[in-house]
Amino acid sequence: MSDLEIDDFEPDEIGDWTERKIRIVSKYAKPYAQIISSHNLHGYYIDGFSGGGVHIKKDTGERVLSTARRILQIEPKFERYVFIDFDQQKSDAMRRACNGRSDAQVICGDANEVLPKTVFPQIRFDEYKRALCFLDPYKMLLDWQVLCAAAATKAIEAFIHFPTQDVNRNALRHERSKVREEDRSRMTRMWGDDSWEAAAYSSQQGLFEKMEERAPISSVIEAFRNRLKKVAGFKYVSEALPMFNRKNGIVYHLIFVTQNATAVRIATEIMEAEQRPHSDG
Ligand SMILES: C[S@@+](CC[C@H](N)C(=O)[O-])C[C@H]1O[C@@H](n2cnc3c(N)ncnc32)[C@H](O)[C@@H]1O
Repeated sequence: MSDLEIDDFEPDEIGDWTERKIRIVSKYAKPYAQIISSHNLHGYYIDGFSGGGVHIKKDTGERVLSTARRILQIEPKFERYVFIDFDQQKSDAMRRACNGRSDAQVICGDANEVLPKTVFPQIRFDEYKRALCFLDPYKMLLDWQVLCAAAATKAIEAFIHFPTQDVNRNALRHERSKVREEDRSRMTRMWGDDSWEAAAYSSQQGLFEKMEERAPISSVIEAFRNRLKKVAGFKYVSEALPMFNRKNGIVYHLIFVTQNATAVRIATEIMEAEQRPHSDG
């Protein structure tokens, strides 16, 4: 099977902001794998929302390899790879792509269950295991408990996709009464509790009555970053970097979390270089 064959699954259509995200994680993974192996540590790559292995570019129809498939090609190799997707066809396709790789495991399941229950407990700091994790749901689908479980190991660092468009459009509507219950609870699950409402809305006395004001998305995300440090327990949390489309709109923010100061510096440099579309592609 050729690398870019689409074998019995519905590939995601992606914009160039997704390609830049794929490049960021792949670019970071290489020095990470080098450092881990030079320190004789056991390196894991864990992708909680891995997809089927191939995506289609929205504008040209071209096929591109997913982050997971790129990471599999990186040298030096990680000792183990874990790929999770809850879509049966995508995880089957990923399994076929990993055929013959005894170092790779593909799990069809809900990352919010599988990661804290069965995958993260394997990453034992005292057994010299370390993991780079990619948490890339396209919407408010990531459970806060996953982040707490990752931080508790002290051995996992992660790129986190913060789904800015979904949050802005659905959970942080300017007219708060229009937020649907379902969207409110998705946001609460991602945030860990309902304190996002206090970070997002405040009351001001208007001329005749109290008026509610919505905070800018940047300050809501700042509050989320603070939680990653103070509540989840990551020692270093990068700036939340807005990732732009060609119309200068923000599609999502990317945040890197780790226990290591050098790691956050390297990841930030790589993310900053990919924040905007390149003029050539
Ligand atoms: C944005 S795509 C992943 C793209 C991929 N990370 C990449 O960079 O190439 C998100 C994937 O998450 C999967 N997904 C959504 N919710 C999930 C969940 N709770 N557990 C596991 N997979 C999930 C979807 O089926 C989809 O394939």
